[in-house]
This record gives sequence, structure tokens and C-alpha cells, in this order.
Amino acid sequence: MNKLYFGSNLKMYKTVADTVAYLRELAQRTADIDRKEVQLFILPSYTALESAAANTDQACIKLGAQNMCWEDQGQFTGEISPVMLEEFGIRFVMIGHSERRHVFGEADTEENKKVRHALKHSFTTLLCIGETAEEKEFGISTEVLRTQLKIGLYGVDVKDAANLWVAYEPVWSIGVNGIPASVDYAESMHYEIKKCLREIFGEAADEIPVLYGGSVNLGNANDLIVQPSVDGLYVGRAAWQAEQFERLIRNAKAAYEEKRKTAD
Ligand code: 13P
Repeated sequence: MNKLYFGSNLKMYKTVADTVAYLRELAQRTADIDRKEVQLFILPSYTALESAAANTDQACIKLGAQNMCWEDQGQFTGEISPVMLEEFGIRFVMIGHSERRHVFGEADTEENKKVRHALKHSFTTLLCIGETAEEKEFGISTEVLRTQLKIGLYGVDVKDAANLWVAYEPVWSIGVNGIPASVDYAESMHYEIKKCLREIFGEAADEIPVLYGGSVNLGNANDLIVQPSVDGLYVGRAAWQAEQFERLIRNAKAAYEEKRKTAD
């Protein structure tokens, strides 16, 4: 069985106490799930990372930061560097989330600097990409995704592909006003992403997990996870209660196993 990836970006919602309680409950609820089959990961707010790391076995739930600076130190007021994350035992970072790009105006060239710096520190580096509704309307989704990948991963050494993850999160599908992507649409974009990754990294690309995010919920998770080019689900709102996230993971894993059984 291929490993399935399930994770959640906690955005700017949970306090330190909320985060620790959530992680404890999630660890307890998922304790019996084989971590060779499921990679579980959570990205809390910066302020919660130290307590989260102190209270979590990262072999069970990998912890990551939601963003990072492209330098170790310097005149970057308000930024956090990989050295500071490492102090807390954090060696995983997300780069280029839709809200970083569209609320805070980050560009592909900045994401590229961050990706390269995270990889220099041998962090697991999750690059998020996704087209806007307007770009989809113009029929240029594939071109946009290819651009985000080619610039975002520019200059990345093939040996670092082993530390790379990619999340496809169409901008129009994320958050309270988001419309979930149809399963066929998500699969076709994932297929294009994997094709582009192969152009960049050759065979090493086959080891890069490509996760879908954007209004994933209990109603669509099973159909998404069984798609051939979808390696995992990156969940916001539907994961922020441990009980609900546990249910989503167990259901999706069962749907995946069922599909594998019927395919054999
Ligand atoms: P939602 O699942 O709430 O749409 O958020 C997804 C997301 O932004 C994950 O990074």
C-alpha cells in the first residue's frame, strides 16, 4: 500500500492551549493507525509550535510551520527563520499557501527563495500552488500551475526532491466561501502537476506526494483519495475538531483500501 497523507493547516484559529488539547486528542484517537500507511501532519500557529512540539510525538503527528523566512537571521522584522523553528524541533514548513500569496501578496520568486532555504536546512518543504477563479475561467489553470512549479522550484537540486511535498489548493476552493473542486477536475490538475514535476526532477518526482486541499470534507474525501494522482488530503475547517478529522481519515483510508482490493 502506498502511504496516504492527511494533514491540517490550523491557520490563525487555535491558541496554544487549544492546539495542545487538539493534538493530544488527535494522537489518542489515531494511535492505532499504522504510520507506515498514513502520514499525519499538523501546522499550528507559530506561537503554539514550542508547546505543540513538547507535547507531540512527531513520529505519529509531524508538526510544521505555516511559513518561514528565506534567511537564517537579519533585518526582517516580523519574520521567523528556519534556525528558530529548529530550536523547537520543527523541521517541516509550508511555503506559498494561497492566503500568503493572495492576502499578503507573496510572489513566486519569494516562494522560490523560501523553498530553497528550507531545503538547504533539509526541512520537509510543502509548496502550495493553485489557480484563481479568474485564471480557471480563462482556461489557463495548467499554465498557472506549471509557472508556480517552475519558478517555485527553480534551482532546486534533484537530490532535495526527497524532502519536497506539493499541495494543489485552487484559490476558489479554499475557506468559507470556497467551492470544492470536482473530483475529475482535481485529478486532472494533479496529473498535470505530476507531469511537470517529472519534467523538473525526472524519476525522483515519483516520490513527491501531491496533496489536494480546498473544502475537503467528510462528503468528498473518499472520492478524492481514490484518484490515481491524489496522494493525500490537506484539510482546513473539516479537520479542526479531532473527532471529525479522525472520521475523515478512517473513512478515506477504508475507501482507498477498498479501491485497491477491487483493482487487484
Ligand atoms: P479549507 O479546507 O477550510 O477550505 O482550507 C484548506 C486549506 O487552506 C488548507 O491549507
